[in-house]
Amino acid sequence: QDPRLAGIASAIRVIPDFPKAGIMFQDITTLLLDVKAFRDTIDLFVDRYKDKGISVVAGIEARGFIFGPPIALAIGAKFVPLRKPKKLPGEVISEEYSLEYGTDKIEMHVGAVQAGERALIVDDLIATGGTLNAAIRLLERVGVEVHECACLMELPELKGRDRLGDKPLFVLVQSSVDAHDYH
Ligand code: PRP
Ligand code: MG
Repeated sequence: QDPRLAGIASAIRVIPDFPKAGIMFQDITTLLLDVKAFRDTIDLFVDRYKDKGISVVAGIEARGFIFGPPIALAIGAKFVPLRKPKKLPGEVISEEYSLEYGTDKIEMHVGAVQAGERALIVDDLIATGGTLNAAIRLLERVGVEVHECACLMELPELKGRDRLGDKPLFVLVQSSVDAHDYH
């Protein structure tokens, strides 16, 4: 395995019981403070996705907005924000996904992408996979080919990967949801 991955994994801070009891929050803000770890993160994605014919990097609000744009610039793709509801001012299309309680939506501007384009979807973390599943549906509805989904981190115990159908998912780090791993 790439020697840079250990530094990336250790730069992600885990905060127990945030935002509520039982949740081990994966805090990527500490990774952003570590210039080498942040650069290595972007470089690993760029190495994987350059020269793949990707013309769109779609980043998911909010934390996908941190990692998506530097990847997009480096591979020469445009950046398209997939936003929470009622944030985008133009005409949008939206997809719903389920949360622990209720549902949420992500939205994309009509005209941001064209049928036949090839997209990479970027987010910080896949948990249940609901968010990425909605992002894939959003892009495929308008005729975009989703090349892959890329996340810094996966919580494999939640089996989010299974919700992506046959869409490939690439992650740098896997984390356990089990609190005992961090004590
Ligand atoms: C978090 C995370 C992913 C999503 C993963 O975002 O950044 O986007 O949850 O969960 P899932 O795989 O179960 O769908 P969240 O919406 O909590 O907030 P954010 O705006 O801070 O990114
Ligand atoms: Mg998010």
